[in-house]
Amino acid sequence: MKFLPKTIFFLIILSACSEKVPSESETWNVIQEEILTPQCVNCHSQGTAIAKQSGLILSDGFSYGAMVGVPPKNIAAKNDNLVIVSNEGGLKGLGKSFLWEKINAHDREHYLSDHQNYGQMMPPGDNFLNDGQLQFIRAWIEAGAPELGIVADEKLLLDSNKYKPPPFHPLDPPEKGFQVHLGPFEVPPNFEREFFHYTDTRLNEDVFVNRIQIEMRPGSHHFILYSFEPDTKSGRLPDFGVNRELRDPDGAIHTSTLITMLNHQFFTGTQWPRMDYKLPEGVALRLTSKFGLDQNAHYVNRSDSVIVGEVYSNIHTVDKSQVEHIAELFAFSNRDFSLPPKKVTTVERTYRVNKDMYIGQMFSHAHELMTEFIVKVSGGSRDGEVVYWTDDWQHPPILEYDPLIELKSGEGLSLIATFDNSTDQTVKFGFLSTDEMMIVFGWYFE
Ligand code: HEC
Repeated sequence: MKFLPKTIFFLIILSACSEKVPSESETWNVIQEEILTPQCVNCHSQGTAIAKQSGLILSDGFSYGAMVGVPPKNIAAKNDNLVIVSNEGGLKGLGKSFLWEKINAHDREHYLSDHQNYGQMMPPGDNFLNDGQLQFIRAWIEAGAPELGIVADEKLLLDSNKYKPPPFHPLDPPEKGFQVHLGPFEVPPNFEREFFHYTDTRLNEDVFVNRIQIEMRPGSHHFILYSFEPDTKSGRLPDFGVNRELRDPDGAIHTSTLITMLNHQFFTGTQWPRMDYKLPEGVALRLTSKFGLDQNAHYVNRSDSVIVGEVYSNIHTVDKSQVEHIAELFAFSNRDFSLPPKKVTTVERTYRVNKDMYIGQMFSHAHELMTEFIVKVSGGSRDGEVVYWTDDWQHPPILEYDPLIELKSGEGLSLIATFDNSTDQTVKFGFLSTDEMMIVFGWYFE
């Protein structure tokens, strides 16, 4: 009781002071408003599968209590005695903060090679925070991660440089498995070159694939490896080792190439210049020995000089005895939409499944008019739950689900894509990068 008057006296002084200097905001509020809310909350918000999987809600009012002093959900990080954000301060606090490991793009090589079980870097999909944001968060953690007070200079945020992953380098072939290589090939100026190249994999029996690495020279729009539908007649298969162009320099589509696409079965693909995808232990994709792999490169060259493309793919395999679940691929592709000129249009389409499915991975594919792509569960107890979100058409994150998303027969996924058609023309589904697409790819098992 004796202290009460004094405390009140201090509080009066404190509030009087803070009224005098309203110009700068508390560091934590700035982190919330300038970084977490715009760049993390779309995924890390209540009721999303991502919040469930990561255990982390980063919305205003939740995020501080969810991070500071809290052990991570990620088991490897927890076993390394990290907390999401440590309040010990200094380099020690930084070194104990899982958040810093997850966002510090400049240490990406270390992260990928030494912490393979820490999950992806955040935000996923090579959408790194810029250097100013990183330095601002770092200063805050080093100052003991306080909820109140100004501990970092807001001017740091002006630094908009971003980490760039190291340049293309050829992949060494895998220890177990095989490699396919495409190119180098030329992409003429102001041209979108898309072609296919059927490669003999020389397999004597079906193999089980649990990791795929792809490395490309810059300029790629997408790269896909296709197999063929099981009943494809040999007469429908392309010749090995020949480049089949999709279009002429004047834009005309080659029908002969289109015909070879009809029996395609998607095997793997990416829009990132570098992909290293591992399936969980015990899960593998089956790759048939009946067919080779049809490599599909799509490079976009908007410059005035020739660029060179090249792609390496490593297919890592495991023994059949190590496989508990064979993963199947799915693609939900909506081709039935029309985007009026000078308008923002949201297209929604629901796909129902006719068997019980466990989904382990998803990523979206769309072109440059896409501004937001959401996938929600439709039906069942998780009806309406967001399981995928991106606003990046170029490098959409490949999200992995652990626990897997369980869909019962009759339930499904709703795809909700928003497109900002700033052009003068109606845009529809099509294969040019000026056309649009609305696809979700992934794998599942029954
Ligand atoms: C596209 C969706 C998406 C976005 C955007 C995103 N995250 Fe995540 N985040 C995930 C997923 C999925 C996981 C769980 C898997 C993993 O760790 O890779 C996760 C996990 C995490 C974890 C680990 C939690 C734990 O306890 O294991 C942290 C920390 C994190 N995210 C921080 C962030 C921050 C900070 C941002 C924004 C700068 C962000 N995330 C943006 C999807 C996202």
